[in-house]
Amino acid sequence: MNIQYIIPHEWSIIEEGFDKNNVGSSESIFSIGNGYMGQRANFEETYSGKSLQGSYIGGIYYPDKTRVGWWKNGYPEYFAKVLNAPNWIGIDIKINGQTLDLNTCEVSNLRRELNMKEGWLCRSFTAKLANGNQISVESLRFISFKIKELGVVQYEVKALNFKGTIEFNPYLDAGIKNHDANYDEYFWKILGVGNDDKVGFACSETFKTEFRVCTAMQNVFYTNDTEIQSDFEIQKEEKKIGFKYQFNVVQNQTIILHKYAAVVQSMNHPKDDLLAPAKKVLAEGVALGFENLLEEQKKAWNEIWETADIVIEGDVKAQQAIRFNIFQLNQTYTGDDARLNIGPKGFTGEKYGGSTYWDTEAYCIPFYLSTKDKHVAENLLKYRYNQLDRAVENAGKLGFTNGAALYPMVTMNGEECHNEWEITFEEIHRNGAMIYAIYNYVNYTGDYTYIPKYGMEVMIGVARFWAQRATFSKDKNQYVILGVTGPNEYENNVNNNFYTNYLAQWCLRFAKENLEHLQSDYAEDYHRIIAKTGLTSTETTQWKEVIEKMYLPKSEKLDIFLQQDGFLDKEIIPADQLPKEQRPLNQKWSWDRILRSCYIKQADTLQGMYFFENHFDSDTLERHFDFYEPITVHESSLSPCVHSIIASKLNRVDKAYEFYLRTARLDLDDYNHEVHEGLHITSMAGTWLSVVQGFGGMRNFDNQLAFNPIIPKQWKSYSFKINYRGSTLQMYKSHEATQLLNLTEKSVEITLNGKKMIV
Ligand code: BGC
Repeated sequence: MNIQYIIPHEWSIIEEGFDKNNVGSSESIFSIGNGYMGQRANFEETYSGKSLQGSYIGGIYYPDKTRVGWWKNGYPEYFAKVLNAPNWIGIDIKINGQTLDLNTCEVSNLRRELNMKEGWLCRSFTAKLANGNQISVESLRFISFKIKELGVVQYEVKALNFKGTIEFNPYLDAGIKNHDANYDEYFWKILGVGNDDKVGFACSETFKTEFRVCTAMQNVFYTNDTEIQSDFEIQKEEKKIGFKYQFNVVQNQTIILHKYAAVVQSMNHPKDDLLAPAKKVLAEGVALGFENLLEEQKKAWNEIWETADIVIEGDVKAQQAIRFNIFQLNQTYTGDDARLNIGPKGFTGEKYGGSTYWDTEAYCIPFYLSTKDKHVAENLLKYRYNQLDRAVENAGKLGFTNGAALYPMVTMNGEECHNEWEITFEEIHRNGAMIYAIYNYVNYTGDYTYIPKYGMEVMIGVARFWAQRATFSKDKNQYVILGVTGPNEYENNVNNNFYTNYLAQWCLRFAKENLEHLQSDYAEDYHRIIAKTGLTSTETTQWKEVIEKMYLPKSEKLDIFLQQDGFLDKEIIPADQLPKEQRPLNQKWSWDRILRSCYIKQADTLQGMYFFENHFDSDTLERHFDFYEPITVHESSLSPCVHSIIASKLNRVDKAYEFYLRTARLDLDDYNHEVHEGLHITSMAGTWLSVVQGFGGMRNFDNQLAFNPIIPKQWKSYSFKINYRGSTLQMYKSHEATQLLNLTEKSVEITLNGKKMIV
């Protein structure tokens, strides 16, 4: 059973009542972030129950020692971990000497709200402590979009049935550990904790990677709208600094704390003096004040929603879900910094060490392309361009030469940092997604200049890899790609995975075509690139040979491409015939049994047909969908979205809707029983795709923008906007009408339901 306790609401995520079993899930679901940093929805005050304390800062990682049974040559030296960073939200509360702890006191009226429209999180409750004192508490916090390095908490305590003392102890704690640490080690060295007058600070540095972070706080108190000047006692420990404030209150008096926290780090400031910028951030925050910062927050989110919003009428759960997905994607990546990327868990958990997977290129790029200015997607592409040398090194470690590039499956800095051989050595299809993203970008924006400036070099490196990785089979008189893992990680070391072979062939062709285009139209860039890469005509002739002779496994009898050689030798039993207690397979079956079975973790052959839908006719797509979907178990969050899009394309609206719900409410309804570990951020882009490319039928092949909208019967209507080459288009679809509006002056040529028109 899914735990469904989130109250449906169009704009907010709401939880009412206190259930300790949901603390972990809510910590993930109610997470906040601003692209620069993020914070799980941990309680500010002490909580002695089970919790995953989590504060994260974009780009900061630790190369944790790997844990493998038997070392093999070529294994990466480390498995990078997204680092849990110093805790800046903490505020311990004591009432007449007794600690407020929701795990031990009587809690009533607990309510949390994550307001997605305005970008803040609040929580309120009443607590009765063991000493009989009752208080009501309200907290509201956000990570500022106005001042990126600033987080703010407003924390109010009201004495309900007593007079006496309320003690606030806002603190910073740098003594944190990653839950996801291979050897339970500390990843942070403490450089110093202390205070400079009203500013408390904790400075720490990661071992090995030597990222420095300074977290600083300043506190302002109020009662009845009046600021209280209050003395504090410094509570300093080795890794923690707290300020203790004590107030004598009468019954019904409220004390309000505004805690401002600055989080600055050495990727953005000189390493040796991080306290100065931290103080500057605090001074700016305090000068603006809580209310103004909150107003700015609302404005920033208003701007985001202006283009990113999707409105669904007649289905509040679907509405809430799509906004949740869009909201979390915007909290994770804003596109200001080409050194950052989109981790599968964003800033909401530690699992899936490393920040960047092929998820970015395969799933996230279209979302950012359509809802943001083009520099955002461009920064994502540049992230890979800037790591090209590392990709060449990665390939070199596996024995490839001459500038062949293998982008990592998982990375923080361009270096491969995953350590399972089947993923590191074999899941090479990711290399193709890098090129597909370039194609997507250029095709969507019409900005071809990216290719001569940056893209071509990446394409050459990747093409060289494929040309070397393919083996000529004398027997077949064709090129084969042996020993791979496709997107379906439930098969390893297979030969000729259709998706991989098809993508490799396409990458080589695309690289070759673009080289020719550059040679004729961008001669100067062409010569620069040839000189830089040393590319020869012998190489491109070999590419041509591989393109022409690439082998694609196929069953002539069924008229379908096979996921890999020998796939039909498997016993094919639809997944819905598996007993429910045996699902999910990855938790219930031995790995060996999974590998031998026909069950597919996520879209694989269908992933290829989704990418290259324009290469296949509808009958072909339908045959493949009918063959592969029934044996797909969707045990990756990236799976339902692709199936939803294809089902929409095939006009199977109910099926598409079923998949849509699975992707959209995956975390809100905790389908996979793992939301406490963090949210599935990258698959949230897939949810957006299910609406825009799925129901909306938006396609962008061959420089042509097309729509083919359909609508599920559960909805009254839906509408979304996209930015397209300087115009903003709005699609509205109901059961009665289809309306496409151009909200800008610039006209756009589109195809609607197969008819070309100018909007
Ligand atoms: C999927 C991969 C994906 C990774 C991170 C895995 O479960 O199989 O395709 O890249 O999760 O989202």
